[in-house]
Amino acid sequence: MALSPSPSTESLSPVQVPLGNGRDYAVHFRSLQHLPALMEDAGLSPGRSLVVTDENVAAHYRSPLHTALTNAGWSPRVVVLPPGESTKAPEHLQTLYDTALAWGIDRQTPVLALGGGVIGDLAGFAAATLLRGVPLVQIPTSLIAQVDSAIGGKTGINHAEGKNLIGAFYQPAFVCTDVDVLDTLPQREWTSGMAEVVKHALIADAELFEYLETHLKDVMLRRREHRPPVIRSAVQVKAGVVAEDEREAGRRVILNFGHTFAHAIERVAGYGTFTHGEAVALGMRAGLYLSHHLHGDVPRDRADRLVRAIPVEGDPSTLAFDALYDAMRTDKKAVEGEPRFVVLDRLGHADGAVALPRSVVEQAWRFAQRD
Ligand SMILES: NC(=O)c1ccc[n+]([C@@H]2O[C@H](COP(=O)([O-])OP(=O)(O)OC[C@H]3O[C@@H](n4cnc5c(N)ncnc54)[C@H](O)[C@@H]3O)[C@@H](O)[C@H]2O)c1
Repeated sequence: MALSPSPSTESLSPVQVPLGNGRDYAVHFRSLQHLPALMEDAGLSPGRSLVVTDENVAAHYRSPLHTALTNAGWSPRVVVLPPGESTKAPEHLQTLYDTALAWGIDRQTPVLALGGGVIGDLAGFAAATLLRGVPLVQIPTSLIAQVDSAIGGKTGINHAEGKNLIGAFYQPAFVCTDVDVLDTLPQREWTSGMAEVVKHALIADAELFEYLETHLKDVMLRRREHRPPVIRSAVQVKAGVVAEDEREAGRRVILNFGHTFAHAIERVAGYGTFTHGEAVALGMRAGLYLSHHLHGDVPRDRADRLVRAIPVEGDPSTLAFDALYDAMRTDKKAVEGEPRFVVLDRLGHADGAVALPRSVVEQAWRFAQRD
């Protein structure tokens, strides 16, 4: 079925994440008001629930969600945490444990993660570990969370030694995605999320790539009618990859397209200099160069035009290749000090991760810096 703009999500069917062994779950595209009905459908009976959110999200959505839950007979307890990456930390996890246990939760008490990837990862890990696991519902509110972090079950917090070093695979009971909440997302967060959307198109969905190419300006302007087709397609890519390789033993690596460079860029520039999405955009440009180097049919310049629509505020020319390469050699996915790069073998299809000569990687970085 061809992708087309649609002003409403009401007709959007859920995306299934087929994990097998009775653990399949759905990503529903419904407004927050429908959450209690989805909970009931998932076998969760009204009682206590622990809502975890951050201050920015709470300002807009705490009250409507609270009202919807109480009207349906739930007793929600809301924990509002500070926004930002530094919230994915042991002290905030402890706050969740203390609140939940003092309140007397039981194994049926769901944790509802209302927020971006930070809240989803942190609350997800709390749900995985409280009483050895309570039901988790992901309610993603940022674009990154909707197309990426809320799906797939990676949960966790950061450690002084590095990001996401403490965590667990823990799948939600379901995901409730309300694309209208993206109205209040800051523009830089939107463009950061678009980097992951473009990545999903490049690695696994040529039709989404063409849709983005056709409607690029309006998608970047966040026009409402483009959200349902774009977000659902991007969700489908993530769900498909996760279903094939839940624990990242193989195929899931393709989600790292552009990320070997991106992680190095973030580390060398200092976290926060480039958003994650900006770093991924630069990394994907390098990745397109490498893909074309190995597979001459990959339409490098055409794909690069789409990637370059993602604005990058920082200046990549300040980052020396030697420093980036050193950082890449110690990346989690490097093998014996040799970085690995996900490459495409055609538009809309990623091949896997490969090692390449340092000189070629350096040429790729020069390509990524081109105007
Ligand atoms: N688990 C995974 O598979 C996975 C995948 C990708 C990223 N991540 C993690 O996700 C995090 C990044 O996610 P993120 O970009 O969503 O970060 P985030 O949660 O910090 O959200 C970004 C900002 O947008 C605000 N925000 C979110 N939704 C909003 C809304 N609807 N209206 C107004 N403001 C809103 C937040 O308060 C925050 O300030 C990182 O910690 C990363 O490691 C995890």
